[in-house]
Amino acid sequence: MANERAPSAPTTENLTTATVMPLEPHTPLPALQARALCKTVVDASGSLTILDDINLTVERGETVAILGASGSGKSTLLGLLAGLDVPSSGSVWLFGEELFALDEDGRAKLRARNLGFVFQSFQLLPHLTALENVMLPLELGAGTAAGNAAAQTATELLARVGLRERLGHYPTTLSGGEQQRVALARAFVARPAILMADEPTGSLDARTGESIADLLFDLNRERGSTLILVTHDAYLAARCARKISLHAGRILADGA
Ligand SMILES: Nc1ncnc2c1ncn2[C@@H]1O[C@H](COP(=O)(O)OP(=O)(O)O)[C@@H](O)[C@H]1O
Ligand SMILES: [Mg+2]
Repeated sequence: MANERAPSAPTTENLTTATVMPLEPHTPLPALQARALCKTVVDASGSLTILDDINLTVERGETVAILGASGSGKSTLLGLLAGLDVPSSGSVWLFGEELFALDEDGRAKLRARNLGFVFQSFQLLPHLTALENVMLPLELGAGTAAGNAAAQTATELLARVGLRERLGHYPTTLSGGEQQRVALARAFVARPAILMADEPTGSLDARTGESIADLLFDLNRERGSTLILVTHDAYLAARCARKISLHAGRILADGA
């Protein structure tokens, strides 16, 4: 899947910190752990620290809202937690697997099995229809459906997000809110154990946003799926049991 930003090259620093997390015997693995996660970018004007020493553990089934002002590092953090971008240093474990000990292909396979991701900019494939975009994760190896079954599952989900009449539309012929709902359907379709979404209701009116939030929390309730949502939407944040506030690339608060 295309990245929102080109990933930077791995550094020797993050290779040498790729250690195995010590675990208590019989402790169920958390959905996600991040330790000492840093992201610094260097350009002509100098070096900029986007994320600084982020540490967090998310247990299975948790609902987490990541909050913070524009530019505080929310999208960068979500991209790192999904292994879509590479940190300058630090580690992320997804269901106990060290993401940056895997190569890009290995991370993609791990994501395909476990993770749905909704990009802030949607990232729909322009040459595929709404239906084909949503069918893609099923055809790409989640292994749950093929052919007609994939089409049926994708059609049902598109109907559930209010797009039954838009199955054959290409992304350029859909409004921002419609593209956002296709992106949500695509992230949901393989019933991922963990769903990450970057401002998933950002382009929706209040009523559509509410029905999308219902869909997100239904997945959490029915499947025990873990939700990690970046959001400015107070209603959506209030429905999450845990809120993590970022300020200038650091965690300012983490709690109920
Ligand atoms: N690849 C990059 N190169 C330079 N600056 C970046 C890059 N990615 C993000 N930034 C900067 O890092 C900060 C955090 O970005 P981002 O994670 O998108 O914030 P948020 O999602 O909270 O609005 C912003 O100031 C942004 O301009
Ligand atoms: Mg953002």
